Amino acid sequence: MLSRRTILTGATLAGAGAVVARPLWQATAAPEPQLLKVPDLIDARKEGQSLTLKVQTGTTAFFPDQESPTLGYNGSYLGPVIRLHRGDDVEIAVTNALTEDTTVHWHGLLIPGEVDGGPHQLIQPGTTWRPVLSVRQPSATLFYHSHMHDRTAEQVYSGLAGVLLVTDDDEKALGLPSEYGVDDLPLLLQDRQFEDGRLVLPQGMMSLMMGRRGDTLLVNGTPNPVAHVPRRLARLRLVNGSNARIFNLAFSDDRAFHWIASEGGLLERPVELRSLTLAPGERAEILADFSDGRTVALETGPDLNMPMMMGMQTRLRSFASDLLGRSREHILRFEPRPGAAAAKAAIPERLVTRERVDAAQAVRRRRFVLNMGMGGMMGGRGSMMGGGQGSGMAMHAINGRAFDIARIDEQVRLGDIEIWEASGEMMAHPFHIHGVHFEVLSRDGGKPTVRDQGLRDTVLVKEPVELLVRFTQPATKAPFMYHCHILEHEDNGMMGQFTAG
Ligand code: C2O
Ligand code: CU
Ligand code: CU
Repeated sequence: MLSRRTILTGATLAGAGAVVARPLWQATAAPEPQLLKVPDLIDARKEGQSLTLKVQTGTTAFFPDQESPTLGYNGSYLGPVIRLHRGDDVEIAVTNALTEDTTVHWHGLLIPGEVDGGPHQLIQPGTTWRPVLSVRQPSATLFYHSHMHDRTAEQVYSGLAGVLLVTDDDEKALGLPSEYGVDDLPLLLQDRQFEDGRLVLPQGMMSLMMGRRGDTLLVNGTPNPVAHVPRRLARLRLVNGSNARIFNLAFSDDRAFHWIASEGGLLERPVELRSLTLAPGERAEILADFSDGRTVALETGPDLNMPMMMGMQTRLRSFASDLLGRSREHILRFEPRPGAAAAKAAIPERLVTRERVDAAQAVRRRRFVLNMGMGGMMGGRGSMMGGGQGSGMAMHAINGRAFDIARIDEQVRLGDIEIWEASGEMMAHPFHIHGVHFEVLSRDGGKPTVRDQGLRDTVLVKEPVELLVRFTQPATKAPFMYHCHILEHEDNGMMGQFTAG
């Protein structure tokens, strides 16, 4: 019989650097449970439609007495939850108190290119950027984060991310759980790497190729969190804020839950699920029922999204962890408060109605292949052999071209409907488009999956996926981006830009 050590060391990635530096047989005991941190809520109406965000450095004790240098908005790590109301115009004054440039992108907000916060809206140290955001879209859970070109992955990893909510009357009329921090919880999910309790930034070829991964799961910056929830229905707003990690979410007792909103907002009707995949940049709102009073954990399956050989080794590793019954990791434990259960809250049968875009009205088709060339290892941007730019195929690119901030890749006409077909090489890539919400028309030539429904702004692609996109926001003064939301891929060239006018 194989010893446990043989099985696992045989499956450990050789030379993987910090990404999987600790073989499973050395796994440390789970950290002490901590109360889930709930970010401050800033409601734009209560602030007179004028908000301030300070981008700052700080230190964060993720574990007691273990301080790590981090970045945050109005705090040391991550930022407040910002609530905007449909129909309002909101000014957000963003002051950069760092010693490096940054930007703040409002991921999922449908606003013009010049206020989108992409790499063209640089905020230099000591300066303030004051975009006015006109909120004209239905309620949704969105995401804001640094989009500093070449530095997005590091800045987000260090803490520059937060949750943005849009609310409206249609949503309020549904009577969904809405007590912020009680039964309406923002859950920003991230994996991070720690050494001796301190946050470290994984470096090296593996991090560049697969995106940075970490051995510790955080929710709102809390490791091993516990949330005390009332014995009733709760609305969980799940945001994948990892650099590269895909979550395969399920409850520890495999209980069913209702998926109610995709990236673009509420679905037409709730969808009962027992598990849900969430890629970086993706969001999902679910209703979870805690009325039985039982403690239950939100868990994730292993992340198998790696290219080729690495993928094989990972599958072996996950097979080994299966043998040990460790294939699912805890993300967050829910402990319902003692006391009587609330009367069973009804889950609305219908949520919202939305106007459908007709695919027959599409005026144009564009194809995007997210390239991950092994040729890049021999030369080119980010190359292993130091070949420098242009000496070989780009390692990360779209349609064979690495991102160039001075080049406009596509031009679309404002108001047009188009079909964008996206596919990804070597592994699955979360494809994100700024300034639009789209529908998934087909996947690998067939019907979309249950989870493809609703309006999206980020979608996981490997096999070709057809997206029906309507361009409603102008991008003439500054372009919109489209890119892979594995942030290391994005920084290293898997991004393009388009104008709309
Ligand atoms: Cu969430 Cu272009 O990014
Ligand atoms: Cu975005
Ligand atoms: Cu990618």
